Amino acid sequence: MSGYSQKVSNTGPQNPSWADMNRATSILELEHLQDAYKVWLSAGWNDAYALGESEFVNSWMASPVKVGTWVDGQLIAIGRANTDHIMYSMIHDVVVAPPFRGNGHGSAIVRELLNILKGMKVRSIQLMSAKGQVPFYEALGFRSRPHDGPGMEYDWSAS
Ligand SMILES: CC(C)(COP(=O)(O)OP(=O)(O)OC[C@H]1O[C@@H](n2cnc3c(N)ncnc32)[C@H](O)[C@@H]1OP(=O)(O)O)[C@@H](O)C(=O)NCCC(=O)NCCS
Repeated sequence: MSGYSQKVSNTGPQNPSWADMNRATSILELEHLQDAYKVWLSAGWNDAYALGESEFVNSWMASPVKVGTWVDGQLIAIGRANTDHIMYSMIHDVVVAPPFRGNGHGSAIVRELLNILKGMKVRSIQLMSAKGQVPFYEALGFRSRPHDGPGMEYDWSAS
């Protein structure tokens, strides 16, 4: 589905029409992923994943939908989604750099991911909320699964 990436990247930060804007949300390309790693590290999740920069870049390159927001040329917010393009999609790694939180950038990232996934007409758009972030996602239209049918994750210590 590189067509989506190609189409939206034409309106990316290189486009002069975006240069006048203080804020631009657009597709992340390979050359942005080292900066994306720095933003992602600010979430504190790497204690669990122990990803080096090149692993992070390879992981993100495998995701078909990747977006970021730039402020004055600096990448300050990121998010991505994995999808089979028809039935399922899962949003991951929505992170805003700490000094920029609380200014609508996280919402803009999720809305852009939703726009792209809706454009694909993928049937199900899912995510796993980080602890304490349920109200943030509810405000964007997500609903929690019922308590007797929750999302689950494999526990590696079980093997
Ligand atoms: C969660 C995160 C992406 C939100 O980004 P943000 O730019 O600060 O959020 P926004 O400014 O777009 O917030 C939009 C609304 O959600 C609210 N909100 C944001 N985080 C919230 C939270 N944890 N609990 C309740 N409301 C929250 C904001 O107050 C705002 O409400 P308003 O529109 O009524 O003012 C950001 O805090 C972050 O990067 N956190 C660390 C990484 C993380 O946990 N990501 C989520 C992964 S599932």
